[in-house]
Amino acid sequence: MGNEKRNMKENPYTLMPVSGEAFVGRKDLLEELLDDSSRHLLIGAPRIGKTSVLKQVQYLAHQRHQPAFYLSLEGVVNYEELQTSVYRHLRREKFKWFDFERIGFDPRSFEKENFFDALFDLDEKLDGQSLFLLFDEAQVLVEIGRQAPAFLQKWRGALASLRSLKTIFAAFPRILQVNELFEETSPFTSGLPIEYLSVFTASEAEEFIRRPGIKIQSAQMAEIFECTGRHPFFLQILCGALYTNGTLAKLTPEKFRAAYNSVPLHGILLHAFNTLSDEEKAVMQAVHQKDTASLQILRSEFPTSRSLESILDRMVSYGYLKKASGGYKIINAFWSKWLKEEMPEPVAA
Ligand SMILES: Nc1ncnc2c1ncn2[C@@H]1O[C@H](COP(=O)(O)OP(=O)(O)O)[C@@H](O)[C@H]1O
Ligand SMILES: [Mg+2]
Repeated sequence: MGNEKRNMKENPYTLMPVSGEAFVGRKDLLEELLDDSSRHLLIGAPRIGKTSVLKQVQYLAHQRHQPAFYLSLEGVVNYEELQTSVYRHLRREKFKWFDFERIGFDPRSFEKENFFDALFDLDEKLDGQSLFLLFDEAQVLVEIGRQAPAFLQKWRGALASLRSLKTIFAAFPRILQVNELFEETSPFTSGLPIEYLSVFTASEAEEFIRRPGIKIQSAQMAEIFECTGRHPFFLQILCGALYTNGTLAKLTPEKFRAAYNSVPLHGILLHAFNTLSDEEKAVMQAVHQKDTASLQILRSEFPTSRSLESILDRMVSYGYLKKASGGYKIINAFWSKWLKEEMPEPVAA
């Protein structure tokens, strides 16, 4: 038995965020995030790969000997907690090749002094050397901004003038609601380059499948593409379930069911569904009712919705729908099964 175990290869597909060698694709995006503007907003639906991108930015920055701090804002409910979490992260992390003392900065000043004074002080002392602050789950900024709009306004102003500190926020699409808090001034996101994270391209998905040394025929690959819509999370689930000791088994209805049941998808997809607006939910349910929903049919169902096409485009870009000849379809077999079996109450648009 011991021998058998030793000969078994470990399943390379995972449901955790990935970085380093296991990270696939997103090449142009990573270049952009690492090199260009000093601030970015990365927008994507749950499980599309935001955390993985931030962790990969951190990994690549470290390879260049640039300090990079990953800070999840999950559960952070006010700006005091946000400030404390910045301070805690800066204080905790130690790099062989970077030392706050060397540049004459004390991370404790984030706690003692004004948050913004500390930011500007650090930026100045970095003197052109990049330091990344990678904020995950940044949709909490909507709630923080509702309580303390002045803090967010000030932060937006600060972001525009920092030279060495590079800030990346990753958030669900609803982060854009933050702009509603800025009706008097220009929106929070003005001057903040937005990158949208979408499903893998065909060549990324192919690389994803082959990366662990898997040999696969193009027909089987096409089946996996069709079943997952090339969405990273569903590729991980499906390939993980098909994987047996260095090969991928044929995709059968039984294997698909096993893949679906290998993860608590009920709650995961409900959460992803609930991050949509009511209008988007209704559109997704309407598309699900047809095999392929043409724009014409959808228009007749949503006669008053002037923004139907932009909603559809957005939902394709976020990985809920896909374009097909003749209209729109649900992105993949996992979502279709969930909508069929666990369709939440129809949402009135
Ligand atoms: N670039 C990538 N390469 C390989 N797997 C990825 C990539 N991006 C996402 N995944 C996989 O997709 C799933 C969701 O990724 P994650 O980064 O946690 O998404 P998010 O933070 O948007 O919820 C995980 O199983 C992860 O391994
Ligand atoms: Mg995440």
